[in-house]
Amino acid sequence: MTVGIDKLAFYTPGLALDMVELAKARGDEPDKYTIGIGQSVQSVVPNYEDVVTMGVNAAKKILTAADIEAIEMLIFATESGVDNSKSAAVFAQKLLNLSPYIRTIEMKQACYAGTYGLMQAKDYVRLHPDKKVLVIAADIARYGLKTAGEVTQGAGAIAIVVSADPAIAAIEDDSVYMSQDVPDFWRPVASTTALVDGHLSTDIYKEMFLTLWSRYTAKTKLALADFAGFAFHLPYTKMGKKALDQILDQATPEQQKFLQEQLAASQVYNRQVGNLYTGSVYLALLSLLQQGQIIAGQRLAVFSYGSGAEAELFSLKIQENFQSAIVGQDVVTMLADRRLLSVSEYEDVFNSQLFDYQVDATTAGPKNTDRCQFVGWQNGHRRYQMS
Ligand code: CAA
Repeated sequence: MTVGIDKLAFYTPGLALDMVELAKARGDEPDKYTIGIGQSVQSVVPNYEDVVTMGVNAAKKILTAADIEAIEMLIFATESGVDNSKSAAVFAQKLLNLSPYIRTIEMKQACYAGTYGLMQAKDYVRLHPDKKVLVIAADIARYGLKTAGEVTQGAGAIAIVVSADPAIAAIEDDSVYMSQDVPDFWRPVASTTALVDGHLSTDIYKEMFLTLWSRYTAKTKLALADFAGFAFHLPYTKMGKKALDQILDQATPEQQKFLQEQLAASQVYNRQVGNLYTGSVYLALLSLLQQGQIIAGQRLAVFSYGSGAEAELFSLKIQENFQSAIVGQDVVTMLADRRLLSVSEYEDVFNSQLFDYQVDATTAGPKNTDRCQFVGWQNGHRRYQMS
């Protein structure tokens, strides 16, 4: 039986910051941000959005009544959750009108948790082929103003429906994975921003990719020429190039050129959004499917990395009607419709987040919107509203 990605949606908030403007404000060369790191724009999160609203807004784009009927589990992957006890999945379940008779859980392991969720979903559907699992991967990459990580901030959510006979891609049973305790990136419970050893994190990412690629090829007997492209976790788009460059000499010059073009296609959306931690690798996948040269039957590699650190490499087989399953996802328009902020407006938005649950406060989101919003704190409770 084939199990895999039946539906795939992306959502990012409606505010954005141009990286050339940020570079100028920080006294850096714009080329460092746009070429050296490979980011052009980053999404900015207003205080009426969080991982719950973004995840719900992504899932709303794809869920039909039949999906809602068949979904028996909601897995919410995030490293920027809204509560240290209550799962973001429980908030999302209610806001999406899912049945009360489902399992809900939040998962955390830095940027990797979405992939763990996807694999759990695959195993569940294999045992319950008439059921579906909703996986949401939503995050806010928040390093802080005037930090080295600031250029790699971003935000957004991916929603994936996992089912039998999937429309987009079958998840192959070929995963290789590894975990090791590394101090490359972390966020202490009391901190609202990530702490990071950026250069160490880049080195560990590269090392783990190389190790897993070697294990994967030994296990599956597949070679680079068997792949029509890679979807990498992209904390910044240059990271994908750094990883792929390590193995490119295993291909012919023509294959190398093709894989580099496909890598560029996978980077198009992430370059305009920035890091969305758990969702980044699946945004790269969506970008590759929509912007790359993909044909049904081809095999794509997915490399998922989460600092701390855990990584997994597996492949997807593209399904016959994948084009019609993703055609409704108009990412280009969503990105173009964002309002570009000045650097000082961005700093104000960055500092306007309502982290203090002890103070009743209301956010000022737009009226008459069809989006889910965080309304504010009331007696220590987070309040949400659908349109
Ligand atoms: N023109 C063109 N390129 C330029 C340039 C210019 N004028 N000036 C500098 N560059 C290049 C540099 O040569 C360098 O390229 P290489 O990496 O290919 O050598 C690149 O721009 C970046 O320069 P620096 O290394 O000097 O930049 P930095 O010290 O400010 O750090 C960073 C960059 C490490 C990515 C930092 O932004 C950071 O810490 N980000 C957060 C951590 C992160 O994203 N880590 C990624 C792996 S961890 C992970 O994947 C999990 C996760 O999501 C966090």
